[in-house]
Amino acid sequence: MTGTDDTAHAVSDHPPEHARTPTRPAALVTGATRPAALVTGASRGIGLAIAERLAAAGYDLTVCARDPGRLTAAADRLRTHGGQVRPEPADMAHEQDVLRVAEAHTTAYGRCDVLVIAAGTGTAGPLGTAPLSRLDKQFAVNVRAPYALVQALLPTLRTTAADRPTTTGTTGTGTGTGTGTGTKIIVLSSITGTYPEPGLAAYGATKAALTAFCHSINTELSPAGITATAICPGYVDTDMTAWIRDRIDPTEMIATADIAELAMALTRLSANAVVPELLVTRPGRQLHRA
Ligand SMILES: NC(=O)c1ccc[n+]([C@@H]2O[C@H](COP(=O)([O-])OP(=O)(O)OC[C@H]3O[C@@H](n4cnc5c(N)ncnc54)[C@H](OP(=O)(O)O)[C@@H]3O)[C@@H](O)[C@H]2O)c1
Repeated sequence: MTGTDDTAHAVSDHPPEHARTPTRPAALVTGATRPAALVTGASRGIGLAIAERLAAAGYDLTVCARDPGRLTAAADRLRTHGGQVRPEPADMAHEQDVLRVAEAHTTAYGRCDVLVIAAGTGTAGPLGTAPLSRLDKQFAVNVRAPYALVQALLPTLRTTAADRPTTTGTTGTGTGTGTGTGTKIIVLSSITGTYPEPGLAAYGATKAALTAFCHSINTELSPAGITATAICPGYVDTDMTAWIRDRIDPTEMIATADIAELAMALTRLSANAVVPELLVTRPGRQLHRA
């Protein structure tokens, strides 16, 4: 979140669906030993915290963000956990970048066990004077890009879900093996999408759409083992909340480690446990505030 304007990037009209589908995974591996995850917004903040936990848990990664220098530094750090890490500099406001990232991930790993969508943008300001270009930019990055990314990765998510191993847990009858974990889509939405705040009309609207998108994914794709969760936090101590540090002490904000912990728990759930959204609020008398 920033207090400044961001010029909206032009985004093209949707090409037909067949033109958007990436090449079918050539190297989809049955019985692959290492899972793979794609994390957007992984160079810092919440995305980096989740990427770090995934790397430590044995995932190979594709990571993306706009700034190539910071992304390279993050990738170097993530590689210390021993897995492959592929940095893909990309601006999620640009549809061609979104599609390139999806294709690069599928080509490199042939599977996507976990998709984390953390790249996001926000600007605060009164509704009366906020330029429409800010709304357009926030919708492009926070809603249109996640939609395009999920759509482009869908063939890979489907084949990976079918390939996921069964868990070692037991069924409800206490016998046999549990169901597989399927593939997980973990999206960083916001509490402002559920409980609006003054000055955050555009941002809150994009996050409400993003949360609704996760619900839609579940209704359409959970029978195929693809489930989505919108994590909806209040203020988390990252660069995004630097603008409000004079009013809310960072030590009173949610930690990136808390969000990463939730994300990792989601990756371990069976495909039978669908968690459409997780609201994470700070302590206090007004719980449903950012
Ligand atoms: N911090 C909070 O209080 C809070 C609360 C609720 C929800 N969220 C959501 O959580 C997500 C992560 O937030 P954060 O606090 O971790 O933010 P952050 O510290 O500002 O990090 C944002 C990350 O996303 C990347 N990014 C930003 N715009 C991008 C774009 N157009 N294309 C590609 N990458 C982009 C950034 O790298 P580059 O700048 O190099 O591109 C960076 O890696 C966001 O979706 C945010 O809306 C945050």
